[in-house]
Amino acid sequence: MRALILPDVEAISHKAAEIFLHLSKQYISSAKRFVVALSGGTTPKRFYELLGSEIFRDVIDWSHVHFFWVDERCVPKEHAESNYKLAFDLFLSKVPHNPSNIHRIKGEEGPERAASEYEKDMRGFFGTSGFPVFDLIMLGMGEDGHTASLFPAAESLKEKTRLAIPVYMSKPNSNRVTLTLPVLNNASHIVFLVAGKSKAHIVKEFLAGDKESKQFPAGLINLVKDNIQWLIDREAAGI
Ligand code: 6PG
Repeated sequence: MRALILPDVEAISHKAAEIFLHLSKQYISSAKRFVVALSGGTTPKRFYELLGSEIFRDVIDWSHVHFFWVDERCVPKEHAESNYKLAFDLFLSKVPHNPSNIHRIKGEEGPERAASEYEKDMRGFFGTSGFPVFDLIMLGMGEDGHTASLFPAAESLKEKTRLAIPVYMSKPNSNRVTLTLPVLNNASHIVFLVAGKSKAHIVKEFLAGDKESKQFPAGLINLVKDNIQWLIDREAAGI
């Protein structure tokens, strides 16, 4: 794992936006497209704002970027908790993207149906019956070590064949859909954005290469190639 500790959320967000720009150029020049999956949560907000700001808005070839989501709450797309809305409001609405390149998870259709439609969408887009290869997946990590909507000790961690699965939460109306581990682990690049002192205890285990950290969902992300970049702010790194 490659870990970069930077002063604050501003710094990790800039670094993430630079990586996004760099990879977009690389993939668009070689493959004429750049396929990304985005996360929700609070940490990526500044990263999204930067993508929509004049620094990055005009230097990324948005029309060739294809957007998928790592996970989604089962809410309508206008809902405050929608991960699609988060990205749309903060940058997609501000950049010249191609609307047909947006592949959102239709959470409003309910967990089962949204997951199976999303899987169908991915299979059609990537044209494969195996696991798709995303060029870049942006991930976050919760205080309990969850990533995407893959929570510690959940059955979802055992999924071996599906691309997207429903996730039933204990709170009513908070069910979700998530990409599965085999999909995350098949990506070409993953960037983790981790900030805040509430994450320090768990980041410490990761940085120490502690075996225990492998039990957390985020610790199960293990690309074959060493293409996982952790961007961690000082608070999360505990320094
Ligand atoms: C989501 C996620 C989730 C998130 C982590 C970290 O939609 O909530 O995709 O996995 O990345 O919970 O969230 P924070 O950035 O808010 O700490």
